[in-house]
Amino acid sequence: MDATSPNRKSLFLNLVLFAAGSFQSSNVDHYRMPAYKGYFAGRNLGLSQVWTEYFFYMDDDMVITETTKMDLLVSFLDKTNFHLVGVGIQDRLSPTTYLALGNKTHRCIVQKPDPGYYSEVRGFPGIYANDAVLNIFLASTNEAKAVGFDPHPLLARIGHNEFFLSALGRLRVAACSFCAVHHVRGGPVPGNYSRYRKPDKRFKAKLEKLQPIYA
Ligand SMILES: *[C@@H]1O[C@H](CO)[C@@H](O)[C@H](O)[C@H]1NC(C)=O
Ligand SMILES: *[C@@H]1O[C@H](CO)[C@@H](O)[C@H](O)[C@H]1NC(C)=O
Repeated sequence: MDATSPNRKSLFLNLVLFAAGSFQSSNVDHYRMPAYKGYFAGRNLGLSQVWTEYFFYMDDDMVITETTKMDLLVSFLDKTNFHLVGVGIQDRLSPTTYLALGNKTHRCIVQKPDPGYYSEVRGFPGIYANDAVLNIFLASTNEAKAVGFDPHPLLARIGHNEFFLSALGRLRVAACSFCAVHHVRGGPVPGNYSRYRKPDKRFKAKLEKLQPIYA
């Protein structure tokens, strides 16, 4: 597909999930999930509504700017055999590779943030092949759907890693070192934002006393 074709205008379906109030408007479809279903259940709902070749995912406290370089991300996926390309927050990219450590009987997976990539993608200076990126990426719709976002309650809070671990050997992942979104830390109810984003020790202690959420 040509990055400059008029079809590109309709390439991105805008989705706003989990937000209070209604954001329904032209070019925006807003779906609400019941509270506390885990963000992967919501992501699957969002993805099920995408009919375009690619989709862009980011959290609802992020803003696409000129620095995101969306055109470049689209032409990167068009011109290479990569399925997903990640974007940084301001100047933080944080790509990682995964490494299995251990022996025959004991094994663990570690994320290697240094250098966090295997190599630069030929012909695309500043874009690197790796295993996992931040929660901000452009991906091929069908390939990402095939991996899926597992909404199992046990994985709901660690879904981000779960997706990239499931994608090992299935999705070719890269990260763009000069593409970034703006991160708006705050939101309409700043108290609530920090409460959920950085639960304090008292909140964590409360969680530890909870009953299992499924049997
Ligand atoms: C494998 O690693 C574990 C953890 O370090 C160790 O307890 C175990 O003895 C090792 N097994 C073998 C066969 O080396
Ligand atoms: C903020 O949190 C309070 C409970 O502390 C809740 O009643 C209120 O609905 C929340 N507001 C939003 C917009 O989520």
